[in-house]
Amino acid sequence: MNISDPRYGLFQTLQQCVRENRPQDPMATSEVDCRYYTDPAWFDHEMKTIFSDVPLILGPASMLKEPGEHITHDHTGKPILLVRGRDRKLRAFLNVCRHRGVRLADAPEVKRKPTFTCPYHHWTYALDGELTHVPVEESFPDFDKHCRSLVALPTEEAHGLVWVNPNKEGTLNLPGFLGNIARDLDNFGLADDHFFKQTVQTRQCNWKLIVEAFQDGYHVTRLHQRSVGGFFLDCVAAQEREQQHIRSIVARKEFAESLQLPPEQWDFRNHASFAHFIWPNTIMVFHPDYISQMALYPQSPSETVVVHSCVIDREPLSEAELAHYERGFAMIEDGVFNAEDLHVCEQAQIGMDSGANDTLLIGGHEGGLRNFYEIVEETTGPYRP
Ligand code: FES
Ligand SMILES: [Fe+2]
Repeated sequence: MNISDPRYGLFQTLQQCVRENRPQDPMATSEVDCRYYTDPAWFDHEMKTIFSDVPLILGPASMLKEPGEHITHDHTGKPILLVRGRDRKLRAFLNVCRHRGVRLADAPEVKRKPTFTCPYHHWTYALDGELTHVPVEESFPDFDKHCRSLVALPTEEAHGLVWVNPNKEGTLNLPGFLGNIARDLDNFGLADDHFFKQTVQTRQCNWKLIVEAFQDGYHVTRLHQRSVGGFFLDCVAAQEREQQHIRSIVARKEFAESLQLPPEQWDFRNHASFAHFIWPNTIMVFHPDYISQMALYPQSPSETVVVHSCVIDREPLSEAELAHYERGFAMIEDGVFNAEDLHVCEQAQIGMDSGANDTLLIGGHEGGLRNFYEIVEETTGPYRP
């Protein structure tokens, strides 16, 4: 047992709750103003205070393996080009030609190229962003190509993920930003994992509703009764804050076995399921044999782009193994996230917009939501309609 592994503390908390047959938090009811999810002025305030200068996870690093592999990303409000260089370093640039500003690359899915050539006048850039070729260069007298490299964004490959601050003047400072949650990512082995699949979709709901759906131990056996609900114990869940992030855990049916075992035999993927919230917009769900990374990009108070990336322990070695992961992904993406979690988030948005309720209610088994409100409020200030 590695006692410095931060996952043990929360696992132990949950065991304690089960032994004493009590919930983690005392039962309490609180209310939240529904306009928190519908008010356009508040949405603008959130964009400014939360999203304008913050490290965001743009996906698993294993998505771009070879030099020249790249992907474009347009969901943060900035056009981003993410590329692995000849030196194998990952870089992010504003996806904008330095001549007359045309969008340079178009790769909603991973593509591979040796250089990037702008479609308009064919200015060409190397994988490290340097401007290497200007057709009819003499038509630009007194012009120094070296001063017109692509505009770089703060980027780092760390803990198996790609982190980018879409603000070119911003910083990353990942050790300070992540604190102990970085060790969770390392201990789940993300850095050695293999990119499997990514889906992108736009859903008609506020981004916070989706975060909340993944911090809620109350719905698991109910909403998911026909899919994965039967794998879990009802309302046996715990969570804790780690700086601006949340580590949370829901007991699987096998959880009772762990009470008889020494800590080194506790199984963080099969006795329970962890779901981490990484500030401000990522949910990581650690399933038994794959990991879901779900990033939420708010577009309006009632519209969110959802990017779901799935990583697996290793590259499938046979058709049968591939089919196994395909089935697992289809089950979680279509059967659980789309048909159940994201579906109810959209239904909740319809409810918020209708004005039927002035407030929504949070009960004793929804403590993760209280943590999330607290974290948001520390950045935005209290909600003021
Ligand atoms: S705008 Fe890109 S080459 Fe002219
Ligand atoms: Fe759920």
